[in-house]
Amino acid sequence: MSLFQKKDVHALIAKQSHSGLKRDLGTWDLTLLGVGAVVGTGIFVLSGTGAIMAGPGVIISFIIAGLACLFAALTYAEFASTVPVSGSAYTYAYATIGEFFAFLIGWDLISEYLLAVSAVSAGWSGYAQAFLQSIGIHIPTILTGAPGSVPGQTTIFNFPAFFIVMVITLMLSLGVKESKRLNNVMVTIKVLVIVLIIGVGIFHMDPANWKPFIPHGWSKVFSAAALVFFAFLGFDAVSTAAEETKDPAKDLPRGIIYSLLICTGLYILITLIITGLVPAASFAGHEDRPVAFALEAIGQNWLIILVTIGTVLGMMTVILVMLYGLTRIILSISRDGLFPKSLAKMNEKRQVPTRVIWVCGIIAGLVGGLVPLSKIATLVNIGTLAAFVTVSIAVLVLRKTEPDLPRKFKTPFVPLVPILAILSCGYLMLLLGSMTWIFFGIWILLGVIVYFSYSKSHSLLSKENNNGSL
Ligand code: ALA
Repeated sequence: MSLFQKKDVHALIAKQSHSGLKRDLGTWDLTLLGVGAVVGTGIFVLSGTGAIMAGPGVIISFIIAGLACLFAALTYAEFASTVPVSGSAYTYAYATIGEFFAFLIGWDLISEYLLAVSAVSAGWSGYAQAFLQSIGIHIPTILTGAPGSVPGQTTIFNFPAFFIVMVITLMLSLGVKESKRLNNVMVTIKVLVIVLIIGVGIFHMDPANWKPFIPHGWSKVFSAAALVFFAFLGFDAVSTAAEETKDPAKDLPRGIIYSLLICTGLYILITLIITGLVPAASFAGHEDRPVAFALEAIGQNWLIILVTIGTVLGMMTVILVMLYGLTRIILSISRDGLFPKSLAKMNEKRQVPTRVIWVCGIIAGLVGGLVPLSKIATLVNIGTLAAFVTVSIAVLVLRKTEPDLPRKFKTPFVPLVPILAILSCGYLMLLLGSMTWIFFGIWILLGVIVYFSYSKSHSLLSKENNNGSL
């Protein structure tokens, strides 16, 4: 059955050793790449919405989401060390569970990355507007948010969100890749901002703000976990650097796990601090920049400008990595013939897929301008959680079908850890609202239609297999 035809794992591994890309990334670079792709809107914006939902218990929500990611990361790491090629979950699935599911996962990743760009741009907008206001520039109110995103105000379009996506799209189309140096600078800024917030905030916390710790019940703590899960996304971007890594089998798993651990630690500290500074309920009305609001509340205005600049710059790297990752996934799918080849058309001079970049950028920018952040974030989460569940299943499958494949990194306690990943990510998916599920269902259905009406008959693997069997 061509639906279940698989790429040969051994051929993939052999191919990656000759990819021609320069291998100069080590464990530390990958860890920074991960932190750069992860720290953004989730912690600087959604932490406030999470605190309104769950109270100070949002700290536990972050721990729950972090644990689900850690289980998934351990399975990702096994794949990344065994099949160190770019294409992430799409490629892993193609080598294990077959073409049809691989295509659906690729399709799912497209919505994840595309909407993540939109969500981070909406998060960026809140801090950027605050910065502009501080230097006396005011944007007309109707252009400051998506329709219905600011209670009591008429807004029709989040212009700053759209604008930043266009700027980054332009940069990518001109051939700007996320460079190691730029990333390292951004990560340093982000981490410094966080350390500064912790260093100053710690002296102003009032433990009374943590009582009651779980004011709205455990169910809200879990629902908030399904939302703030967004804050951890991006560590899988480390695996897309497989072909530029010195020793992928060793460096990739380490980079993935170290970046996740660092981010989890930072998140726990930041949520402890901000919920200790002000009562969690007071974030209502300040959802677009809760961290800056908490600092304002304790009169640390000098810090706000630093935090705002750091956040605005830091979120731009997240948008860049996500948009870049998106174009890579579409390219991988086009190269396999499952999308039209014309999508992968390269601009000869700049060596970038200009068409894909602009199509993705414009769609992501419009979504960021028109849909409120918390709605986009839950859509991103459901897609990612589905990808994590699939990768965990794929690890179990590969252990059965290819038991002797050399694995430099092995997920510990198999099958326990992959099963825990499936259960925890599956559970978080169930907590997302019905509208999120409906959108997800429609998106997957569209994917099934595209697969059967186009991809199945254009698959290069089918052609190779048919030629081979003639
Ligand atoms: N984890 C990324 C962020 O929070 C997507 O912005």
